[in-house]
Amino acid sequence: METKILSTSEYDISLAGEIIRNGGLVAFPTETVYGLGANALDENAVKKIYAAKGRPSDNPLIVHIAEKEDIVPLVKEITPAAKAVIDKFFPAPLTVILKKSEKIGNVVSGGLDTVAVRMPQNETARALIKAAGVPVAAPSANTSGLPSPTRARHVISDMSGKIDAIIDGGACGFGVESTVVSLAGDVPVILRPGAITKEMLEEVLGRVDIASAVLGELKENETAASPGMKYKHYAPKAKIIIVDAEKEIYEKFVNMQKNAFALCFEEDSVNIPKITFGSEKSDLSQANALFDALRRLDEAGAKKVYARIPQKSGVGMAVYNRLIRAAAFRVLNLKKPFTIGLTGRTGAGKSYVSEYLASLGFKIINCDFYAKRLTEKNSPFLSVLQAEFGDDIIENGELKRQLLADRAFASKEKTRRLNEIMHPAILKLCVEQADFPCVLDAPQLFESGANELCGAVISVIAPDDICIERITARDNITERQARARLGVQHETEFFINNSDYTVINDGRDIKTQITAIMEEIL
Ligand code: TXA
Ligand code: MG
Repeated sequence: METKILSTSEYDISLAGEIIRNGGLVAFPTETVYGLGANALDENAVKKIYAAKGRPSDNPLIVHIAEKEDIVPLVKEITPAAKAVIDKFFPAPLTVILKKSEKIGNVVSGGLDTVAVRMPQNETARALIKAAGVPVAAPSANTSGLPSPTRARHVISDMSGKIDAIIDGGACGFGVESTVVSLAGDVPVILRPGAITKEMLEEVLGRVDIASAVLGELKENETAASPGMKYKHYAPKAKIIIVDAEKEIYEKFVNMQKNAFALCFEEDSVNIPKITFGSEKSDLSQANALFDALRRLDEAGAKKVYARIPQKSGVGMAVYNRLIRAAAFRVLNLKKPFTIGLTGRTGAGKSYVSEYLASLGFKIINCDFYAKRLTEKNSPFLSVLQAEFGDDIIENGELKRQLLADRAFASKEKTRRLNEIMHPAILKLCVEQADFPCVLDAPQLFESGANELCGAVISVIAPDDICIERITARDNITERQARARLGVQHETEFFINNSDYTVINDGRDIKTQITAIMEEIL
């Protein structure tokens, strides 16, 4: 099929209207994204949309209208909430879902008993619907799974040869699809965030909920309120990873990467190949640029992409909702003070791993070192210990370590008190040293709660006899003493269950294991 490229002239629009009226497919601009339109009342025409997009048939379409009153025959009832929303917003980048009338066939509604209706703001879109003289069913005019089209060239690239015509109306003003709000239940629910924000809807409707799938991944067995949410979406060929970090850390992080692209804001100073999506200060500019940026990444041949995280509020929620799907929900958390927390039982070989990470450029923050500093001669912290364990544990400004140990380990309660005092104080010093990328080397990572401050936790594990061999050789103690030390620590099982990664130090190559972990973490 030859696809006609039409302009927004009156003549071309009336031609396009005729194509739709006669059962054909026309892609047209709206203020959000380009739509792929067909006569909503003609089931055969609507089926062609699913075929051209490769769209699953249970994913319903939005019916577009030219005037507010055109919604009346499409729905069972205009509820008071619907009336309020239509009066306040239409025409708008907003889609309302209501119980459908018998006019709406099962192909359009994907078998549901509801229908999605929208009156677009874009003049060309409304002129086309008027010219067609019928309600127009239109999803975004992209191949299913790819980023929605916001420029005519995106539509041409996806739909050429598959549809009758494309109206070239230039770039779409807003750039991500309409807000979808369901008014079919008791409480209005946003199924897809867009230009009309939760706050704006709440002014008219009072309480408005947000479907759980909007900002997170749909759990297994959870049914999507909107069928569209369960499908892979907006995904370029490149693997996208969202980096949850402040600007400086993001820049530092991406500048360390090889063979990767940055998908960042215009203000970001980045030395690797980059594609920007708007300004950090304007969520509207991000919405406008996002889908084009995703397509550009493919055009540039990007394989791996690190994306700057947008704000999740206001219009930013719509941007984040699209980006997280484009990233298949991959988020790298660099907001925690420590990039990696490293722990393990005595003698498992933690320091060997830590040295190797240092050679890879990580700053190593050693808890034992700061614990010693905290308790060195004349340290003001010693008075805190004195208050708990007795004045005589200090002599001439010096801590009598054996005496403290005797008292602190005399009972479980006293040991707990010692930890309660020491852990936060040590951690405070460690956090002051935190930098990106860094490793917190902490034998008591879990006991101190420091694991919560780490982007990822790596435990080093080794069989007991190997640990004992190492401790006896290193600390010049007997096997019995070594076993006693291990006895008061968590079992290997605990480390495995509570860590993101484990390094097995039983003769297997450590470097290969770390390289594989780094590949996943960073
Ligand atoms: O901005 C937009 O809304 C664009 C332009 C062309 O108007 N259209 C658009 O359509 O984005 P589409 O098909 O790509 O997305 C429609 C979304 C899908 O996620 C679909 O599952 C959901 O709306 N939807 C449609 N009817 C529904 C219904 N009855 N109940 C729940 N969700 C529905
Ligand atoms: Mg779509």
